Amino acid sequence: MNICFILNGERINVKTGKDRRLIDLLREDLNLTGTKEGCAIGECGACTVLLDGHAVNSCLVLAAQVDGHEVQTIEGLAKAGKLDAIQQAFIDCHAVQCGYCTPGMILAAKSLLSAKPSPCEEEIRSGIAGNICRCSGYEQIIAAVARAAKGADEGSSGGSVGGPNRGSDGGSSGESSGGPAGKPAGRSSVSRAGVADFRAKEEAGRPEEGWMKPASLEQLRVCLAGKDKDTVLISGGTDLIVSMRQGGTKPAAIIDLSDVMELKELKLMEDRLYVGAGLSFGELGMPGAVGDEFRALAVAASQVGSAQIRNRGTIGGNAANASPASDMLPVLAAFDADVLLFDHLGQERSLPVMEFILGSNQTALKDKECVRGFSIPRVEGRKSCFVKLGNRRQVATAQISAALVVDLGSDRRIISTRLFFGALAPRPLRLTDAEAPLRGLPLEECSGFEVCRQVAAPYSDYIARHTPVEFDRDYKLKAIYGVVEDLLEQIKT
Ligand SMILES: Cc1cc2nc3c(=O)[nH]c(=O)nc-3n(C[C@H](O)[C@H](O)[C@H](O)COP(=O)(O)OP(=O)(O)OC[C@H]3O[C@@H](n4cnc5c(N)ncnc54)[C@H](O)[C@@H]3O)c2cc1C
Ligand code: FES
Ligand code: FES
Repeated sequence: MNICFILNGERINVKTGKDRRLIDLLREDLNLTGTKEGCAIGECGACTVLLDGHAVNSCLVLAAQVDGHEVQTIEGLAKAGKLDAIQQAFIDCHAVQCGYCTPGMILAAKSLLSAKPSPCEEEIRSGIAGNICRCSGYEQIIAAVARAAKGADEGSSGGSVGGPNRGSDGGSSGESSGGPAGKPAGRSSVSRAGVADFRAKEEAGRPEEGWMKPASLEQLRVCLAGKDKDTVLISGGTDLIVSMRQGGTKPAAIIDLSDVMELKELKLMEDRLYVGAGLSFGELGMPGAVGDEFRALAVAASQVGSAQIRNRGTIGGNAANASPASDMLPVLAAFDADVLLFDHLGQERSLPVMEFILGSNQTALKDKECVRGFSIPRVEGRKSCFVKLGNRRQVATAQISAALVVDLGSDRRIISTRLFFGALAPRPLRLTDAEAPLRGLPLEECSGFEVCRQVAAPYSDYIARHTPVEFDRDYKLKAIYGVVEDLLEQIKT
């Protein structure tokens, strides 16, 4: 198939295949070898490029997905023979040793500084957490990013640091400020760089060598009508492409949902929050995107993977993948959310999230359906929090995660609770015995050794009986009390 996109400022047309990754297109077909390959599964960041201004792992983007978009590689950073300020700062701070990680580091930093021109050290560490330096020169790299940011602040840098603020890359706080949900800045709001009309809209719904790229819900409906069991849907691709790479999925055809704007809606209504399936974690985790009322949702989204994963991965893909270690499923379950499904006839149905998830990687999704979004009820006096344990601060799938939602009465006593754990069972796990000790307590008193012990006890018992692998069981038994303690501390704030 032919695709057309802006590469380093120039519009190009190339031929590619539906399974070909962006990294292969760049390195092998276009000879842009500055983009490096390391792990090939989204964990090292060596392959980072900018897609519509945001850092993404090019090993986890299909080449066909950049059709109509804008890609920047390290080769496109220097302008008129002058290094970008971040490149210069890397030289000045001796932040380059073997140099293998450097292009990815610089582009991750570029993306961070576009969103957050004056990051603190913690934000720099978080912004480059998806990039591994095997030479371990992290201190110099952090110093270089800080220097580039300072140069931009003082207006004295040699080159350009960031572009316009495009949204989510620095949005890893999860500290939503309580504003109303609105249209998030992010991929969807980025200029399509003048190539939006390169393809007649009606063509997008037609299969082209096994590739369909609907641009509207109506086109998606047409694509779903022709879908069979060998056709897969792709959103961010952060699960699917790993599975394709590892031989788990060999699709005959692919429907790319990432340009369907209706799937990216975020609407705060009187009685509920509507979250479109196509919203990325970066968009959901942006401060203020969903408001303090839905804090656990923002916090969980902002803790998924690295900035690169958050810029691509979507909440719909997370739910449809139905991984036992999913971060969003315990949160959606704790909020008692409904999953809204859309089919080839244009019809919609909704299911409570715990009826949608049938087991590990199993859902109630039918062949000709997709996830359209999530409906989360609003309840006055509701508080929520989310805690995750992983073996690497970022880019870690959860060893244990938990979401707690409590509803308070006018006297700030807990009226009802929903506590769901992830990664302990094939589906988010709720043990109502664990919630009983919290009910009736004033919020300020819902912590302390005895309360935590009572809440943790049913889960300890479950882990002891259901976790077959000894080291996994021992770890989880030791960790569970701490997770509960953290949850109960956080719910009070
Ligand atoms: C390095 C790395 C770190 C990660 N860290 C985390 C983490 O911390 N927490 C976490 O929860 N996950 C994590 N993940 C997993 C992954 O990023 C998430 O599950 C993500 O939400 C998947 O979304 P996606 O849009 O990329 O899905 P895709 O890969 O596009 O799709 C995943 C599956 O869902 C289906 N699908 C996608 N969209 C829809 C739709 N709208 N309707 C129906 N079916 C659909 C696809 O067909 C596919 O089967 C990580 C992955 C990687 C590679
Ligand atoms: S090669 Fe490691 S993240 Fe892409
Ligand atoms: S400089 Fe060698 S991998 Fe980072």
